Amino acid sequence: MNTIVLTPYECGINRAAEILKNGGLVAIPTETVYGLAANALDQTAVLNIFKAKNRPADNPLIVHIANFEDIEKFNLAAEFPTKAKLLVQSFWPGPLTVVVKRGESIPPAVNCGLSTVAIRMPAHTIARKVIAAAGVPLAAPSANSSGKPSPTTAQHVIEDLHGSIDAVLDGGECAIGVESTVISFSGKTPLLLRPGGITVEQIEGVIGKIAVSPAITAELPQDAPVESPGLKHKHYSPSKQVTLIDATPQEFVKFVNSHSNCGCLCYNEDFDLIKTPKIAIGAKCDYAAQAKALFAALRLLDEMQGVEQIFAPLPLTDGMGLAVYNRLIRAAGFNILKL
Ligand code: TXA
Ligand code: MG
Repeated sequence: MNTIVLTPYECGINRAAEILKNGGLVAIPTETVYGLAANALDQTAVLNIFKAKNRPADNPLIVHIANFEDIEKFNLAAEFPTKAKLLVQSFWPGPLTVVVKRGESIPPAVNCGLSTVAIRMPAHTIARKVIAAAGVPLAAPSANSSGKPSPTTAQHVIEDLHGSIDAVLDGGECAIGVESTVISFSGKTPLLLRPGGITVEQIEGVIGKIAVSPAITAELPQDAPVESPGLKHKHYSPSKQVTLIDATPQEFVKFVNSHSNCGCLCYNEDFDLIKTPKIAIGAKCDYAAQAKALFAALRLLDEMQGVEQIFAPLPLTDGMGLAVYNRLIRAAGFNILKL
């Protein structure tokens, strides 16, 4: 299959919509990361997403909509609890995904046969235009090969999926850089399943205390029950070993400088002090900058000649730092070295 690159103009958007209506796969830009979209109501098209990404069959997809009314119009959800409504009123369109009881029209390929479905209304203008032009909700996981860092540019999508998908719509670099926050309303208390562009603090400011899945910050035993299948799969990993260093900035600099054949992620403040190949991902307290730079930096270090292993400082966990922490500990396979 020849993967075509579409421009983010009306002709590109219309072509993307045509392909999607005909059951094809198109990678589209969103404000978080690129998504690999298919018609969410078309079981066969959705199954092709799993094949193209080599995604484990038990990891459900997010359904993307252009308007809140689409939920009722397409019968996507059986229930939409008051707290979920309050949250989406505050943060949609945007990087927030809510998990609610599935509606009748969700084919089993989308939610892997669960009783729930994940729904998000993206803020990216092009994503919304494509959904509207396709006239159907779109199922879209991140447009990477399963396990690799998520794509934040069209080039990343091409690197992973060229030849396996119909098209990629090039909308430039994604503004947020990590995937949406996922929160489940299927139990009594709202439960955070994945930290992302909307923080715990922002959510609790609207609906009060929520529960946070322990799988966000720690590795669970293989047989532990998980609320979100995505939490148990290896994720965001370059092919080289990543090790997170739990240390002061001075100790971190000394540690990486004493190793050969390594590369590292670092904060802007430490850049000039580090002598190994390095990529600065933002100032130490600028979590938004770190989130935006993280996946591209991991891909770059993975390609760098002479770099055999990758070190990164262990991030902080307040605000959007939690999303950076969550992605990095997975990229590292929970490999943390305390100095
Ligand atoms: O920002 C994003 O969310 C991006 C863009 C493209 O919108 N999409 C994305 O999709 O990150 P994906 O498939 O890479 O991650 C979806 C996450 C997975 O962790 C999955 O397990 C969880 O959402 N999920 C989906 N449906 C679920 C459900 N019914 N119950 C619990 N977790 C669910
Ligand atoms: Mg993903």
